[in-house]
Amino acid sequence: MLKVENVSKLYRSGAFGGKKTRVIHDVDFEVKPGEVVSLIGESGSGKTTVGRMILRLTSVSEGRITFDGEDISTLKGPSLKAYYRRVQGVFQDPFSSFNPIFKVGRVFRTLRREFLADLDDAAFATRLTGALNAVGLEVAALDKYPHQMSGGQLQRLLIARALVLDIRLLIADEIISMLDASTRIDVLNLLGDLKQRGLSIIFVTHDLALGNYISDRIVILQKGAIVEMGATEAVFGDPQHAYTRGLISAVPQLHRRWSDAELKDLGLVADTARAGGRLVAYRENHAVRVYF
Ligand SMILES: Nc1ncnc2c1ncn2[C@@H]1O[C@H](COP(=O)(O)OP(=O)(O)OP(=O)(O)O)[C@@H](O)[C@H]1O
Ligand SMILES: [Mg+2]
Repeated sequence: MLKVENVSKLYRSGAFGGKKTRVIHDVDFEVKPGEVVSLIGESGSGKTTVGRMILRLTSVSEGRITFDGEDISTLKGPSLKAYYRRVQGVFQDPFSSFNPIFKVGRVFRTLRREFLADLDDAAFATRLTGALNAVGLEVAALDKYPHQMSGGQLQRLLIARALVLDIRLLIADEIISMLDASTRIDVLNLLGDLKQRGLSIIFVTHDLALGNYISDRIVILQKGAIVEMGATEAVFGDPQHAYTRGLISAVPQLHRRWSDAELKDLGLVADTARAGGRLVAYRENHAVRVYF
């Protein structure tokens, strides 16, 4: 579905922009339908830049990105709109995506005007209700101002905004790093539900434990280059690269299973109330995987 083929990104640098700095080196990976791929690396490793190139928010300097075989750099007008109906991003700071002086429902009207002008009122309302229900919000939420909602609720609204479109790939760039531990679990579980519905997700994070929890495959980036990539279990079970081992050792409790009594003793934040038997516990902001 999505192929990132030998992609590099160069930025102009130096006092007069005469020098070029390569921030992404020959990055090559694929996302298949229904797959969750985590892009993991320390700050500055290039995760956001890769996501922005996929979303056409910045250009590809070398190599190419294809979606269903089509080079995305060639898309324009209606074909670019069609691409954005299928591929959308959600970013770290949900507040920055809303204008504080308007009710949050406005983003859905703008979206409709821009991408879904062909739908009549009833068809749009059905989609909107479906998308809001999928993220656990009521239509009444649209009547609120951004400051009347929590970060987690705004993040859900942005995910719903993507779901109103015919989205097949969601790029989620650090979407839970600003949320508190219990809300993080909700949003992680929501991503799990979307995956069940067949959506592909690129999950961008610097937190390896979160990547472990959610993804089928992991791509580890260091200084703009892929240093390790593979099935989640393989990368965690037998990390090949010293950098990956370093990231993993920063999360010592990763593979441990915890009993209910232990969780309680340790005062962990846990959430057993979720459907599907998924439970995540948190300790010092690291997800500790308990059951799947
Ligand atoms: N517009 C730009 N011009 C020049 N350099 C840039 C630009 N945007 C990003 N960079 C550089 O590219 C590199 C990768 O940045 P990027 O934001 O992709 O990292 P990241 O992995 O998302 O980091 P973080 O975890 O902090 O979000 C950094 O060295 C950054 O300074
Ligand atoms: Mg980033």
